Amino acid sequence: MTLEVDRERLLSEIEALASYSDAEAPAVTRIVFTPTDLKARAWLETQCKEAGLAVRQDAAGNTFARWAGSDADAPAVGTGSHIDAIPNAGKYDGVVGTLGGLEAIRALQRTGFRPRCSVELLVFTAEEPTRFGIGCLGSRLLSGSLPAEAARRLADGEGKSIDEVRLRAGLRGELEEVKLPEGYYKAFVELHIEQGPVLERQGIPLGVVTSIAAPASLRVSVEGAGGHAGGVLMPDRRDALCAAAELILAIENAALTSGASDTVATVGICEVFPGAVNSIPSQVRLSVDVRDTDLRRRDAAMKAAENAGRAISAKRQVAIRTTLLNADPPADCAPAVVEALSQSCKKHDEKFLPMVSRAYHDALFMARIAPTGMLFIPCRKGYSHRPDEYASPEDIARGALMLAETLAALSK
Ligand code: GLV
Ligand code: MN
Ligand code: MN
Repeated sequence: MTLEVDRERLLSEIEALASYSDAEAPAVTRIVFTPTDLKARAWLETQCKEAGLAVRQDAAGNTFARWAGSDADAPAVGTGSHIDAIPNAGKYDGVVGTLGGLEAIRALQRTGFRPRCSVELLVFTAEEPTRFGIGCLGSRLLSGSLPAEAARRLADGEGKSIDEVRLRAGLRGELEEVKLPEGYYKAFVELHIEQGPVLERQGIPLGVVTSIAAPASLRVSVEGAGGHAGGVLMPDRRDALCAAAELILAIENAALTSGASDTVATVGICEVFPGAVNSIPSQVRLSVDVRDTDLRRRDAAMKAAENAGRAISAKRQVAIRTTLLNADPPADCAPAVVEALSQSCKKHDEKFLPMVSRAYHDALFMARIAPTGMLFIPCRKGYSHRPDEYASPEDIARGALMLAETLAALSK
């Protein structure tokens, strides 16, 4: 029987998953371990079980759904992504690789193919940093990149620790048990929307990722002096928001002047205290995200921003404190997985583009413990992390088919 993806089923599952959301459609908000996320996880577990997969969850809530291979001792071939979604997101980020991975497995099952290595769908916990401030929490723990005791110190916006939240969600076991044993995966492949405009602009339907850019993030607090918006004259002010505004522009400038368009910097959160129209801001909290394909250039941009912060602090008499949340190196995809993906595209006469992933993914951390690759499909105008994120049915189905072909090749 020929290898075929059930496009209608895959699309209807993407719609079904999008209905588990704390935002009004078409926006999707699904923050890890909220009641909505837990319902979505339960729904997904049912789909995996219906496909005959053996499902288990680790102590961090990473979910493994396994199609047993004929050689029980052989390392597995993994695929998957995440289903958590940032506030006001779309319905494809992470979901295409998760449900596309499940459909790829079902497509292989329908052909009568029996893998030698087990094929495992992996749904990572908290790829998005929304709740605990750090992205790829599940894959950091799986790969041993984040020690359990460091994870235990993380807290959400309400001060709840990971242990508190995950135990309440019904997860058992210790975070120390999450790290995968050496050689667990023979290979790992993640399907994802590109989250950038390159494939669409070039009219190429598939991207075979060769490396993943290096992300870093910081929290910055700016402390000045509050006061009455009428009573305190301008020369007497130490306005934390005005200082933060200068800092935000300095961060933008650090990326703009790095010498390469690969450097990007974003201040995505700006919280102002006390937040009253007639009160001078006394405190501001910023979140900063800096990335580059080149580690040294990324770190140089961060240094430039830090120096600018020092100058602003002196000039405006405010205290600027920085906490580094993560500064990860980039990852190279494994030549064997890149080759398997490329061969799958060639077999189906599909054009593909070798490319860099500018977004981070759980694959960044899986690459530390397994030969890893990624396959991108286009998304309209490169939009992602917004409600109008869109990938066409043809592109989604094509991606899942190439993934299935690749899983078959790797699991032989
Ligand atoms: C992942 O969501 C990223 O921000 O790259
Ligand atoms: Mn995302
Ligand atoms: Mn994603």
